[in-house]
Amino acid sequence: MIIAVDGPAASGKGTIAKALARHYGLPHLDTGLLYRAVGIAVLEAGGDPASPDDALEAAHHLSSALDDPGLKSEAAGKAASLVSAHPGVRAALLDRQKHFANQPGGAVLDGRDIGTVIAPHADAKLFVTASADVRAQRRHDELGRMGLDIHYDAVLNDIRARDERDSARSAAPLRMADDAVLLDTSALSIDAAIAAAIALVEDRPFSAAND
Ligand code: DC
Repeated sequence: MIIAVDGPAASGKGTIAKALARHYGLPHLDTGLLYRAVGIAVLEAGGDPASPDDALEAAHHLSSALDDPGLKSEAAGKAASLVSAHPGVRAALLDRQKHFANQPGGAVLDGRDIGTVIAPHADAKLFVTASADVRAQRRHDELGRMGLDIHYDAVLNDIRARDERDSARSAAPLRMADDAVLLDTSALSIDAAIAAAIALVEDRPFSAAND
């Protein structure tokens, strides 16, 4: 079974995708880490993530491990959002993601374009969202736990800018697949959001599109 989990930054999609992978015993790929690794590689090389040439160079020579904690930083997230707008970067990362999705037994992938581009044939597609305020609050709390004292308004502005960039780009913009189901986690605890996600996969209202 292939499960596609898409949604905007800090919507809870990563937590939900990990929990689904655990529940169904499937391997999981957080595809945002690939873009984050490209973004960080550009910054470390002294390049500009907004430059297609710099970003493509990094994407073609991507070597950094996806478990590097530096990939979780705000700087990496911003650089990822910039490099991910370049069609060449997306193309360079395409095969790796498709290969992961199509491995025997299936997989869970989370990102922005899993249900639309990477695995349009997925057995289950969730689009996880939450209001910008709730997402900013969650990210603010998370940064606080990491010992970072960043003003809430700055986090909210960053979330809004990221939404705008991810949705407005012409290459594989953040968009809910026509056959995806929406899961709004604004008013849900983590446990409730996970339970709702499992229930949606079990119900599989989307299976008709795949049969
Ligand atoms: O999910 P995340 O915050 O780690 O993603 C970081 C950035 O990477 C995000 O702003 C957009 C980009 N991204 C993408 O374009 N496509 C994906 N499948 C995953 C992430």
